[in-house]
Amino acid sequence: MCGIIAYIGRRDAKSILIEGLKRLEYRGYDSAGVAILEGAGDLQRARSVGRVQGLEELLGDGFNGSVGVAHTRWATHGGVSEPNAHPHVDDKKLGHGIALVHNGIIENYASIKQWLAKKNHVFESETDTEVLAHLIGELYDGDLEKAVQAALREVTGAYALAVICPKEPDTLVVARKGSPLMVGVGADEYVIASDSSAIVAHTKQAFTLEDYTVAKITRDSIRTSTVDNVEITPEIRELEVDLEEIELGSFEHYMLKEIYEQPEAIKRCFQGRLDLRDGQVRLGGISEFARKLATAKRIVFIGQGTALHAAMIGEYLIEHIAKIPAEVEFASEFRYRNPIVEPGTVVISISQSGETADTLAALTEAKQKGALTVGLVNVVGSSIARETDAGIYLRVGPEIGVASTKAFLGQVAVATMLAAYIGRRRFYSQDDLGSLLNEMDRIPSLISRVLEQSDDIKKATSRYINRENWLFLGRGMNYPVALEGALKLKEISYIHAEGMPAAEMKHGPIALIDDGMPVVFVATKNSQYEKVLSNIEEVRTRGGHVIAVATEGDTDIQSMCEDVFWVPDVAEPLQPLLTVVPLQLMAYHAAVMRGKDVDKPRNLAKSVTVE
Ligand code: F6R
Repeated sequence: MCGIIAYIGRRDAKSILIEGLKRLEYRGYDSAGVAILEGAGDLQRARSVGRVQGLEELLGDGFNGSVGVAHTRWATHGGVSEPNAHPHVDDKKLGHGIALVHNGIIENYASIKQWLAKKNHVFESETDTEVLAHLIGELYDGDLEKAVQAALREVTGAYALAVICPKEPDTLVVARKGSPLMVGVGADEYVIASDSSAIVAHTKQAFTLEDYTVAKITRDSIRTSTVDNVEITPEIRELEVDLEEIELGSFEHYMLKEIYEQPEAIKRCFQGRLDLRDGQVRLGGISEFARKLATAKRIVFIGQGTALHAAMIGEYLIEHIAKIPAEVEFASEFRYRNPIVEPGTVVISISQSGETADTLAALTEAKQKGALTVGLVNVVGSSIARETDAGIYLRVGPEIGVASTKAFLGQVAVATMLAAYIGRRRFYSQDDLGSLLNEMDRIPSLISRVLEQSDDIKKATSRYINRENWLFLGRGMNYPVALEGALKLKEISYIHAEGMPAAEMKHGPIALIDDGMPVVFVATKNSQYEKVLSNIEEVRTRGGHVIAVATEGDTDIQSMCEDVFWVPDVAEPLQPLLTVVPLQLMAYHAAVMRGKDVDKPRNLAKSVTVE
């Protein structure tokens, strides 16, 4: 979603801001803009619809200064147009040239707009953000920090913002509530951004701004306070991200890079946590709550999109290994259903970014109702990671590709460790855990083996590339994997794909199957294997083309399907860590063959920070 980058220092702001915007492109956007204070405080602003590249060309040789703010916009209030793009400025006649970039939603903007209109403010855009710029302008009395604090006391909603004013050419004010914002602290300079990817090239010292916090930044000082002006001291820490982790390297797309990173990512995820010698799972982030988890009455997983699919696998794992009743809910539904949280309820939020607005809001709801909350999150220090009582980081490294791949695997890997951790404290025997751990330890090298089929998968996919409707089917834990395969295909290649339990097909969707329709079965050797073979027959009889993800050496299935992608034989709870990989590759190759921009799929944002 929207991305913010701001700079104050002694270097050329333009190049830092443009480079930062490019790093934030992966978050998803439709327009971009920049404002820079030149010399003694002349404000220059440029905005454009489309790629950052276009904005860069627009700036040309101008826009020279060392203080500025910039933004990638993902439209919420108001269509995709230049007037709606950020930065917004306060009223042309009444104002002070205050320029502002914003991520989030000002919920009460309509009433503030009415109030400002009575004071003769004229608005140029349809956005909530412009209202905030005018409000700060209206309250400005020679002190930008105070005006921002006063304005933020009036607004409800979520915001991360960066503000500059020509009357204070050596000051940048930033603030945050609900939307992510990180302050990078360099030598005589500060780089502020929505995430660390735009900061790490300049400094590794940074802190996350707390909610309801405003920071007044000059080249050599920073003052952080609450919106009520109570001073607070931020905790600066070292960023764990390395520059090469966010560079494309020799890969054509981030998605492909991240698919290939999966063996290493899972190795890192397991490192220090799987104790093969003592036959234990060690999870420091939840150890304080081990007893509460082992005696939980009910475990509710929440997440959205890919994270929800990982949550569905988590449900199976918890029931199968830990033997605790488990369920899964869309975070967006959980929140508004007035959910029942009884003593002994544990709510587990799964999220790559740790910033998904629905998941965060559902977690807050669960916490208010007294649930123990646990986060399975990738981004260190993110809102969900900080809000939850306990957590396990995925440790798969930054995920830049909009279509989640290695984070999904990390989520499933962590859910598996969690189930084993709780299970061992209940009825799961030492022998069972010992053999599970030994198999888990082999998973990274087995993923590499699956990846070797990339060329075969590409060739097979090319045969179906012009088909506009696909089905993905599976049973048990293969069902959420089928859902994930369908989501990957639709989000980057724009092919219509549906995932469903294989048995559900007969209850309606079978009517869709016509001659040559690609139907992908996740059909590994597991407790429901025989039943899936029958479902494959039903599809074949109706002319569907069956593509299967199957267990190596399964000759029966080979004779029944047009194409088979193989995964090594592992225990049923570990199969999703392998079966999803061919589906990721299939989606990737399909999108590339259809000429789609894999890393920037239309309408999508990497991190969905509005409800
Ligand atoms: C799909 C995808 C999304 C995210 C969802 C939740 O490839 O990436 O469906 O999984 O938006 O995001 P996080 O995990 O950041 O909460």
